Amino acid sequence: MRFEGKCVVVTGASRGIGRVVTIDLIAEGAKVIAVGRNQKDLESTRDMTSKPDNVDICVADLRSTEAIDSITKLVHERGPLDIIMNIAGVWHDDERKFQGRILSDTPLSEIDDVMGVGLRGSILLTRALLPDLVNRRSGKVLFVACGFAGAHEASGWVHYYVTNKAIEALTAGLASELWKYRIQVNCVAPWYVATEAVQRFYPNDFDTALDPKEISKMALFLCSPAAENISGQTVELRSVKDPQTIE
Ligand SMILES: NC(=O)c1ccc[n+]([C@@H]2O[C@H](COP(=O)([O-])OP(=O)(O)OC[C@H]3O[C@@H](n4cnc5c(N)ncnc54)[C@H](OP(=O)(O)O)[C@@H]3O)[C@@H](O)[C@H]2O)c1
Repeated sequence: MRFEGKCVVVTGASRGIGRVVTIDLIAEGAKVIAVGRNQKDLESTRDMTSKPDNVDICVADLRSTEAIDSITKLVHERGPLDIIMNIAGVWHDDERKFQGRILSDTPLSEIDDVMGVGLRGSILLTRALLPDLVNRRSGKVLFVACGFAGAHEASGWVHYYVTNKAIEALTAGLASELWKYRIQVNCVAPWYVATEAVQRFYPNDFDTALDPKEISKMALFLCSPAAENISGQTVELRSVKDPQTIE
């Protein structure tokens, strides 16, 4: 098992991609600190794993610095930490997907949420958790971004596009900074993934979207010993069933 005894923080663990990653990490021997705001959903994730006792639930809002402190405190109790997986991100709320408005019509709260969780939250949490990894000269950091094929796909959600391009830049920059400490930093950037939210907000794309297990497979590979010489990379994933890829 590639992650036997490894301590992993997973944000976005309450549903979607982060839930599948948590289930797969536990199946491979990891101990997971599962972060999200919704306690019930986090408990459901924990109960779906093969070893619920190896999941610690951490209810926290990544927009809050107090919450970052509380995650850090729990990690220090459960650690030493080996891997940080930044999967939480915002591209919809309960009512609507955050695509379809030009920037001048986009509410400030939406911009703050998209950038505040996916980018700022990931930076602040990684910053807070890194000292242990740096001191031990060992560890992995993973980000999940959205794999835009180009700026033509940004129309209608420029705030989300910018956030995800910034996460790619963060991956490359942080990887360069941390290489000398033997910490690898990589990113998985899929296009549509067949999560409940995609089923709800993009029903026509659900059947041709990537299986979340494919994202998990790549995320676990990049955080495994087999990828110790890979850093600073963003791996874009797009389904072979995606109509845009078929002539
Ligand atoms: N699904 C796709 O097609 C797709 C494609 C490309 C990239 N992505 C990226 O993949 C990541 C996961 O996407 P997903 O589709 O699985 O999303 P999702 O189903 O909407 O789940 C979002 C996750 O982020 C957490 N989250 C949201 N706001 C938070 C906050 N303020 N504090 C802490 N956690 C928060 C949610 O937990 P709580 O609600 O419990 O807080 C939830 O676990 C995102 O970064 C997204 O941009 C998704």
